[in-house]
Formats: sequence, structure tokens, C-alpha cells
Amino acid sequence: MVVAQEPHATNVGVEVLKAGGNAVDAAVAVAFALAVTHPSAGNLGGGGFLLVRLANGESTFFDFRERAPAKASHDMYLGPEGKPTRDSIVGWRAAGVPGTVSGLETAHRRFGSKPWAELVEPAIRLAQGFPVSYPFAKSLESGAKLMSQFPESKRIFLRNGKYYEPDEIFAQPDLQRTLERIARGGAKEFYEGETAKRLAQAMEANGGLITLDDLKNYRTAERKPLTGAYRGYSIITAPPPSSGGLGILQMMGMLEGTNYQDYGAGSAAAIHFVAEAMRRYYADRSEYLGDPDFFRVQVSKLLDKKYIAARRASIQPGKASTSEEIKPGNLQLAESSETTHLSIVDEKGNAVALTYTINGGYGCGVTVPGLGFLLNNEMDDFAAKPGEPNMFGLVQGESNAIQPNKRPLSSMTPTILLKDGELFMVVGAPGGSRIITGVLQVILNVVDFGMNVQDAIDAPRFHHQWMPDKLYLERGFSPDTIALLKARGHTVDRISSVANVEAIVVQPDGWLAGGTDRRAHGKAAGF
Ligand code: GLY
Repeated sequence: MVVAQEPHATNVGVEVLKAGGNAVDAAVAVAFALAVTHPSAGNLGGGGFLLVRLANGESTFFDFRERAPAKASHDMYLGPEGKPTRDSIVGWRAAGVPGTVSGLETAHRRFGSKPWAELVEPAIRLAQGFPVSYPFAKSLESGAKLMSQFPESKRIFLRNGKYYEPDEIFAQPDLQRTLERIARGGAKEFYEGETAKRLAQAMEANGGLITLDDLKNYRTAERKPLTGAYRGYSIITAPPPSSGGLGILQMMGMLEGTNYQDYGAGSAAAIHFVAEAMRRYYADRSEYLGDPDFFRVQVSKLLDKKYIAARRASIQPGKASTSEEIKPGNLQLAESSETTHLSIVDEKGNAVALTYTINGGYGCGVTVPGLGFLLNNEMDDFAAKPGEPNMFGLVQGESNAIQPNKRPLSSMTPTILLKDGELFMVVGAPGGSRIITGVLQVILNVVDFGMNVQDAIDAPRFHHQWMPDKLYLERGFSPDTIALLKARGHTVDRISSVANVEAIVVQPDGWLAGGTDRRAHGKAAGF
């Protein structure tokens, strides 16, 4: 079973599985395919996380998050008056050193069974041309404001203003050649070969920071996944520099000690409890999370049962807290410092949850001339000015300040659940700061409310991230529910986009049920 956010890419994954490839082979092929067919988020110029759990019980986590270039500095995005500029969001200086090609190759070397070139080949084929769908045409058009600022992006993705129409063929010859080089030369080509040289030269010519040394020095980090338990299920999830795994474990910890689920899915009382858990977790996120290679993330303290119980105890069933009164918890710490997701399970039961990103839709808007791929604006995931909100409105502290070679804190939350030691669920999502709350709610809908995977994904979602002090609701909640939430003191606001969750749940009889988010235009398929 493959669930991805774009149908051509899902089909590529199914073909790899059918040909005897395993879940890691399929994930590599789908990720390369998405770089062609879903360029707003699928990428060569970004980074991400790949969580794998093999059928034999082994699990590991590949962190191929972008890193700050060596020339990056704490205040690099502050203007003359000390205010953050838009340089962390748009243009050449917004890009971190890409990790995707390294991450895919590292995972493939460890667990892949098919030849590398065979897994890049479907993406090469798609780069020769594929028919534009209606949603893709609209997506490209929606990127016009950003991409028209950069001639190469304007030429390739906007056809110099003559936007692609549904059913036209979209061919990307520059990207095709880049992929052909990667198929032949692997990550070494991307980080040291022609691709690297052209990328570094273009950076220098346009005031960007990434150098050939930054590219040569890039390494994927293999990390131990975070693990926890919730109501009899084992959770395997993303460790820092993801903030998401810790987030879902902490929020589940707060919820496990309540009977919130007895109020029923979608009830104001249940939403209230979950939103208050969210508020408390995001307060901690603002202070205590960052790249573990640079900042000591006190994971065990943040997940300590007594600590979580104290956070839970401050939740009042009938009354919303204010974010002003909820500070990051007292850990008694020593002072120190548009994304996409795919879920795959192969016939042996090996599972992969892969989330990767160029951050905003179409990243920083820049396509490197001659290379055909967009660069990320992941530098905006750092705290450009600790204490001030970023693109997602997230307030973050010194723990996530910019430092050379550091990885920005992420919300990406690829997660796997086990039941009685056996694979139960593979889940993850794009959606910036809303990823963590989206993944949490889909898991709660399945585990606590007994929904099937598609219903769990389709159910309307809400989001609270401490600051701003608002309970964001997607459309679909009844006016009565909204009134009851307001009566509890929540400042309710409408949100037009939440995470797009892509998940697989193993059924009691062993069959796989795939759910793809109706908010996006993906596809779940098996064989
Ligand atoms: N770029 C979004 C995230 O990593 O959280």
C-alpha cells in the first residue's frame, strides 16, 4: 500500500512494490517522483525525515533536514531596525543546505533492495512529460506571485506567464538531466559533482550563502526514534530536530490521564481538552526544542510522567486557560541553547513514513539555472529573532536560533504505531506548525474514537499553538459546538488550511486500509 500526495507518484511506488521492491525502495522512488510531479513540496532542494520500521521489529530514523550554511549567523535576517526581514522566506538567502538526495541515498544503502538507478528512473520518465491535472494547474498558478520574481522559476513553472492548463504536458528537461546525473552518480554527484558546482556558482552570483564546502560537508544523521505508549499502543516517532514526535507524546500523555474521549468525537468538551493540551505543548516547544547537535533537548524531562501530570492538572474542564498564563513548563533546566508526506507498507510488513519539504509552497521561489529544481526556504524555520513569530506564527527561543551548520527545528512528524508489538498504523503530514496537531488528531480519531482511517482523516480539525492565543477551527464544526467553545473562553478563529494527513492502518484481518487527505489531491493504492 502506498499513500502519497500526488497520483503519479503513488503509482510509481506501487510499481516498485509490484516488482518486488521493499518499502524503502518504494519510498525512494516516490520521493524522486514527487520532486517532478509535486514541485510545490516534493523536492531535490529541500530536506526531511524518513522513519522506517522493518517487519523484524528494527526501527530507525534518517534525519536529512537542511542545515544552515557555514556563513549563516544569529542575526542574518534582521534589518537595520532590528526587525526580521523577508530574506528568510523569499530568495537565495532563504535556502538551507539541501538534504533530500543524501537522505534518500543513505536510507537506500541501509535497507534498499533494488538498484538505485532503477528507483530514480520513474522520476526521469515523468520529467520527460506528464499531463497536468486541474489541481496541479491551480497550484502552479498560486505560486505565480513568488516564482515570477525569479526568471528561471518563471520560465519553467509559469511558462513566462502562459500558465499551464489541465491536460497539457509538463516537461522538465533540466530536471531530467539532473535526475539522470543523480541516477548515475548518486549523492556524490549532487553534493560534489556538476550539480553541486552549478548550485554553488549560482549562489555566489546571487548573494546566497551555500558554498561547495557546505554541500560537500552535508551529512544525513541517523537517529534513534522517540518511543512511547498511548492506551496500549506503542508509538515510534520523530526525535529532535523534529518537535513533532515529542509533541504528540506529550499531548497524548496529558490526554491519557483524562476521560476526554467519553464526550465523543467533535464535541466541544473533547475539543477543549485536546486544545488545552496543544496550548501547553506549544508553550514548551517555544523554549525547549532545537537541533540536538547544538542544544541539549531534555527529552526525558519533557516526557516525564510527573511533569506531564502537572501540566494536565492545570487544565480546567469548563474553562479555557489564556496563553499569557501558560508559560513553558518549569523543567529546572540548566541554561544551555509546504511539505509532503508518504506512507508505505510492503507485503512483508516493512513500513516507511517519510515527510520532506522545501518549507513554503514552492520554497524560496528560486530555481537554480540549468538544474530545474526549486530551493527551500527552510531558514525561516529558525527563530530569525527569538521571541518573534515566523511564517507559521510560531514563537521560538534561543534553542532554535540560527547557528552555522545547525538544523532548524521542524514540525514534521512521521509516526508509526504498533498494537501488541505488530504494525498498526503509519502516519504523517505536511502543514507547517499544524502537522503535529493534525497527526495527533488522526491518531486520536482512530485509537480513541474507533474511526476508520479515511473517516479519521476527513473529520474536521482544529489547531492551537499557544501563540497566537486562538483556537483555530477548520470548516465543518457545528455552530452549537463553536458556541460552546466560545462559552468556555476560547478565542475561536477560522483556519482555511490544516495538515494533509496520509495514513495506512492494518486491519484486524491483516489487510491494509489507506487513507488520503480529501484536502489535497493524493492517492492511496495497493495491489
Ligand atoms: N518546514 C516545516 C517544518 O519542517 O516544520
